[in-house]
Amino acid sequence: MNKTIINDLDVKSKKILMRVDFNVPINDGVVGDDNRIVAALPSIKYVIENGGKAVLFSHLGRIKSEDDKEGLSLRPVAEKLADLLGKPVTFVPVTEGSQLEKAINDMEDGQVLLVQNTRYEDVVNGEEVKRESKNDKALGEYWASLGDAFVNDAFGTAHRSHASNVGIATAMEANNKPVAAGYLMEKEIEFLGNAVDNPEKPFVAILGGAKVSDKIGVIDHLLGKADKIIIGGGMTYTFYAAQGINIGNSLVEEDKIDVAKEILEKGKDQIILPVDSVVAEKFSNDVEEKTVEGAIPDGYMALDIGPKSVETFEDVLKDAKTVVWNGPMGVFEMPKFAKGTLAIGKFLGDLDAITIVGGGDSTAAVKELGVSDKLTHISTGGGASLEYLEGKELPGIASLSDK
Ligand code: 3PG
Repeated sequence: MNKTIINDLDVKSKKILMRVDFNVPINDGVVGDDNRIVAALPSIKYVIENGGKAVLFSHLGRIKSEDDKEGLSLRPVAEKLADLLGKPVTFVPVTEGSQLEKAINDMEDGQVLLVQNTRYEDVVNGEEVKRESKNDKALGEYWASLGDAFVNDAFGTAHRSHASNVGIATAMEANNKPVAAGYLMEKEIEFLGNAVDNPEKPFVAILGGAKVSDKIGVIDHLLGKADKIIIGGGMTYTFYAAQGINIGNSLVEEDKIDVAKEILEKGKDQIILPVDSVVAEKFSNDVEEKTVEGAIPDGYMALDIGPKSVETFEDVLKDAKTVVWNGPMGVFEMPKFAKGTLAIGKFLGDLDAITIVGGGDSTAAVKELGVSDKLTHISTGGGASLEYLEGKELPGIASLSDK
């Protein structure tokens, strides 16, 4: 990678500002899935074990009103982080002002501090001003003034151009202070970048999820790179509709049928669609389901791929040397319609290939199956990994200093 990375920095006794992505689920004041926190530990440990002071910034959720703030405090995350590090983490419940400045100035070498949710700055005095989310220049400059160097380890936020990632980086560089990628950022770029630009062949992409519109960019970009693209999930039925196949009450994006036709034409030797579907009369886990081949009968909607599709997909995957998977094959949150997604996750776990998984439901599936350790890389980025796979330049990565 031609970007400065964390171990290029001298951190001893320095205040190292670190953007991490601690946007994790919080249930009743307790962190649910801590994957993103665990993934940031190597960079935090590097700083504190080398005598630096780690000042962490992250967003959590989206804040549109003062009322949103209480439920989106990062305090539970500070507690979780302290558990994981086995040492105290100072939590500062504000995002600016003398309380924050004093807390940072009082830090000793090797200590960790977490600043309140950066998106608290999106609502000031009850007004939605989006200082963080619109990358307010003064805010980025203020935060940058609090430290000696900046480490961006928030790959999950790299598709955003916000004050706490791009703003701090820009202000730091303007003051000739170092801006580096953390280990997680480096790892994500290495795995996703190599998979797409330099894959061991055959390279197979599996794309699922409800909407074609979310995945058009990725499909388009990967058509030029992947040997095969397996499509599953709700978007399948827009592709069915594009071929004139009956879809019953299945999900369809009418305005994307033409795009789907173009994709099928361009990718006729690459795109593989499900051959059967699990269907039901209602979008519910408490209905009777059945499996049908091809067309979806009137009155039914398709909610998962069927067993023949799983076999077809496995047949394509068995020879793959690189696989990238993003998006579920069916309505994964309903156990009845999670079988297709789980079958694909299980197969990937046993595959002798470079396997990379990104996106909420596909990641949840491999975790549920306990196969995470058998995969090469599980991306912490949802939107960020998708935009990366689209070949877009991500502002969080572009704003890192070149070596
Ligand atoms: C994510 O969870 O995808 C990132 O943390 C970005 O969050 P956002 O979509 O609210 O900007």
